[in-house]
Amino acid sequence: MRYQPLPAELYVTNRQRLYELLPPRSLVMLQDFETHFRALMCQADQVYLNSNEHQRATIPTETREHRFTLRCQAEYPLHDYRRLAPLMHDLRCIKQPAELASLNEAVRITSDGFNRLLKFVKPGVHEFEIEAELAHEFIRQRARGFAYTPIIGSGANACVLHYITNHCQCEDGQMLLLDIAANYGNYNADLTRTIPVNGKFTPRQRQVYEAVLRVFKKCCEILRPGVIIREYQEQVGLLMTEELIGLGLLNREEVAKQDPEKPLYKKYFPHGTSHHLGIDVHDVGHTWKPIQPGMVFTVEPGIYIREEGLGVRLENDILIGEHGNTDLMAGIPIEVDEIEALMQR
Ligand code: GLY
Ligand code: MN
Ligand code: MN
Repeated sequence: MRYQPLPAELYVTNRQRLYELLPPRSLVMLQDFETHFRALMCQADQVYLNSNEHQRATIPTETREHRFTLRCQAEYPLHDYRRLAPLMHDLRCIKQPAELASLNEAVRITSDGFNRLLKFVKPGVHEFEIEAELAHEFIRQRARGFAYTPIIGSGANACVLHYITNHCQCEDGQMLLLDIAANYGNYNADLTRTIPVNGKFTPRQRQVYEAVLRVFKKCCEILRPGVIIREYQEQVGLLMTEELIGLGLLNREEVAKQDPEKPLYKKYFPHGTSHHLGIDVHDVGHTWKPIQPGMVFTVEPGIYIREEGLGVRLENDILIGEHGNTDLMAGIPIEVDEIEALMQR
């Protein structure tokens, strides 16, 4: 589809300065901060301060935010200080309509990028050329850019989970894993597709792909309000184990004797299936609290078989609803026949 620009006032990206949108008198300049801060502190009893409490964060150096907390406590020791992070996490988990509008725009741009690749990918093309095609499509559509460093892994590179060098040439007969998405208005999409470089799946590639696709579809049904992500992950493990037995990669007798702390499926599926998505790609949110309507999660099962130089992952973004989920990426081709037909055009 040809890109149709939205009216300029609907765009809020980092390319547009906020002060262009605000009447001049509503602005408080940074140099006025100390005056306003003192006035506020003299009136306030409780002070909520932000800190990075992302589950995956490691913070080896003191941040500016942390220095500000120390300064507040030193200058105003008798105030009641509280954590802002849990409140922010709860707010960020449940998406408001304006947030979903940005996320949907990120998904739409991502979809255009992927569809462009279906026509572009062929034997001999380099992974970095694919990255360049996407950068062009994303930025021309006013995305901020990539939501995360794109993973474009042909053949065995797909088995390296955070492969980002994207320096190899795609060869005839290989599969190509594309974990690629746009960021729009600070909201991140997160898409993975795995396609045959020459446009046609071999019987084995199709078999592995369809196993991942079956797990993907079941995951989208299991991920409902009330479910706890950790328990969901265990259910996904059982589904994946059955598929791996079907593919001849695991043996039922060995599975029966496996250490439950180290299930055998993890050799071929060594990562989580879902994470919160939003302002961060791996957004804030707890894995032990029940899922609620309004949350957005990825669903991303994969099977990685190093010895066959083959890795398949599929990933869509799912909005949890009270009466049913919405797959925000339902329009992006995923079925084998669909992918083959589009690549052969
Ligand atoms: N693109 C990062 C992830 O799928 O989690
Ligand atoms: Mn993801
Ligand atoms: Mn991803």
